[in-house]
Amino acid sequence: MIGKNDMLNFKIQRFDYNYCSEYIICNTRKRVIASVTVEHFSEHKWIDALWVDKKYRKQGFATRLMKRALKDFNGFRFKLWCVPDEEDLKPIPFENLLSFYRSFGFVLDKESNDRSHLMLKRKIRGD
Ligand SMILES: CC(C)(COP(=O)(O)OP(=O)(O)OC[C@H]1O[C@@H](n2cnc3c(N)ncnc32)[C@H](O)[C@@H]1OP(=O)(O)O)[C@@H](O)C(=O)NCCC(=O)NCCS
Repeated sequence: MIGKNDMLNFKIQRFDYNYCSEYIICNTRKRVIASVTVEHFSEHKWIDALWVDKKYRKQGFATRLMKRALKDFNGFRFKLWCVPDEEDLKPIPFENLLSFYRSFGFVLDKESNDRSHLMLKRKIRGD
């Protein structure tokens, strides 16, 4: 486990491109250990490819990345697919991933069904 003080060494880096912004966190060996992408659409932002290296999970890295991305694009609507990576060796259970996104204000889209879990975060006045 990484101590609170050591967490300061794990800074979030942001890279902006025309169609997306990428956030990464590297370890002291400069290896990427966590990342998320925000894709820019005219009507909303799309959160994609949230990922944390297995060795660094359950220590708040995904939470930090989500908070930062949502803060940077405060005032926009957001969308994402709530889908645990099926190819992951230790996938997060769906219900836990759902609660995780809900904790940031995402809700399931009314057209979501058993196979498709689109989530939205509406623009809130003053958000
Ligand atoms: C999903 C993922 C990004 C979470 O990363 P993480 O850094 O471990 O997440 P955090 O430490 O910030 O934890 C976030 C919350 O999820 C919970 N959580 C994370 N992994 C969990 C697991 N395997 N089982 C149960 N709960 C889990 C944490 O307990 C925490 O909940 P809390 O805030 O109530 O304490 C990581 O498991 C991953 O990379 N999975 C493979 C890629 C993937 O499925 N991405 C999702 C695409 S939609």
